[in-house]
Amino acid sequence: MRVLLITGKGGVGKTTVSAATAVHAADRGYRTLVMSTDPAHSLGDAFQLDFGDHPTAIQDRLAAQQINSQQRIEESWGEVRDALTEFFDWSGLKGIEAEELTVFPGMDEIFSLVTVRDHVRSGEYDLIVVDCAPTAETLRLLSLPDVLAWYMEKMFPIGRRVAKVVRPVITKVTSMPVADDKVFEAVSRFYDRLDGIREILSDPDITSARLVMNPEKMVIAEARRTYTYLGLFGYMVDAAIVNRVLPAAVDDSYFARWREIQKGHLAAVEEGFADVAIQHLRLFDEEMVGIERLRQVGLELFGDSDPTDRFSDGRPFRVEDVGDDVVMIVAVPLAERGDVDLMRHGNELVITVGPYRRSIILPDSLSRRHVRRAQLVEGELRITFGLEP
Ligand SMILES: Nc1ncnc2c1ncn2[C@@H]1O[C@H](COP(=O)(O)OP(=O)(O)OP(=O)(O)O)[C@@H](O)[C@H]1O
Ligand SMILES: [Mg+2]
Repeated sequence: MRVLLITGKGGVGKTTVSAATAVHAADRGYRTLVMSTDPAHSLGDAFQLDFGDHPTAIQDRLAAQQINSQQRIEESWGEVRDALTEFFDWSGLKGIEAEELTVFPGMDEIFSLVTVRDHVRSGEYDLIVVDCAPTAETLRLLSLPDVLAWYMEKMFPIGRRVAKVVRPVITKVTSMPVADDKVFEAVSRFYDRLDGIREILSDPDITSARLVMNPEKMVIAEARRTYTYLGLFGYMVDAAIVNRVLPAAVDDSYFARWREIQKGHLAAVEEGFADVAIQHLRLFDEEMVGIERLRQVGLELFGDSDPTDRFSDGRPFRVEDVGDDVVMIVAVPLAERGDVDLMRHGNELVITVGPYRRSIILPDSLSRRHVRRAQLVEGELRITFGLEP
């Protein structure tokens, strides 16, 4: 069982890559589901078919699903939302603002994850390809199980106990509608629905993220940032897919300069994704929609390789807290003492090992700190970041 999360900046080709991956896998005999969390129904556009909130068969062993998150929010959050609305009403906050506050950002995306988990558990598919929302949302989505767990652990057990004791008192002195057990139970049921999501998505045997990008400066910068944060949250990236690469057949002088520019960007991809499998996909001479064209994209993207394979275990680094310091651990196989050179430009860290260069975008929490020390220990570079230089 494999789950592939396809993400990247807006418009880079996520939906095309997701659909093409799914068609290719189905052709190879895998029972495949491709699903989209994007309300814009773009999967339908890619296949030029209509399908709804339930897996719809497209061909043998291939189904597609466009999640309707609004409907799902209604199903499992409705109860909680009603209680919150009552509370806001009491506090004087009314209308549309209050309504907005009862649904927290990223909510719709949680339900997509619940659906992914349910499909994994059902055992009905060998492969689930998730056409994710553009990067920023995906990151929020993938950090949500952790963030929610934190809130629930910190607030919920106490909240419940306090409510039991305090409610009778409060209802005597004010008219504040303190959420009753029913609401806590609703919240708790909601939370239980998220059970197992984190385990599935952070298990590299099951889930790999694939980053789609174009050979353009800003697009690559964003993909690298995403790579950093996915690594920080413990998700593995197994491929970087560079889409819309000018094919060699374009020898028009008009495009010669463009090809040079792309060459530079492709080198930046090699450096930024040093431990990730890099795949190139050419710019086709037409929009690649409809199942036959998607099949062609899949063939060009994967050739003889199996799209369900784990192409690499890309994770730019791990972090450990050591007292007040944070140690960033980067794998640098083949490096020997004295071989390694470390340079920092703002929030970018460039590591040179012999002839190889790799660079890492620092997460915000580390870019505020200073590099204090770097040691090579058994094929790993341990870089200590402190608050003081
Ligand atoms: N390599 C390519 N050659 C030609 N056309 C392409 C290529 N890749 C994608 N396209 C076309 O570009 C358009 C945008 O691609 P796609 O919808 O896959 O991007 P996306 O990343 O999913 O966008 P969004 O962020 O809006 O969801 C589509 O019309 C698609 O057919
Ligand atoms: Mg899309």
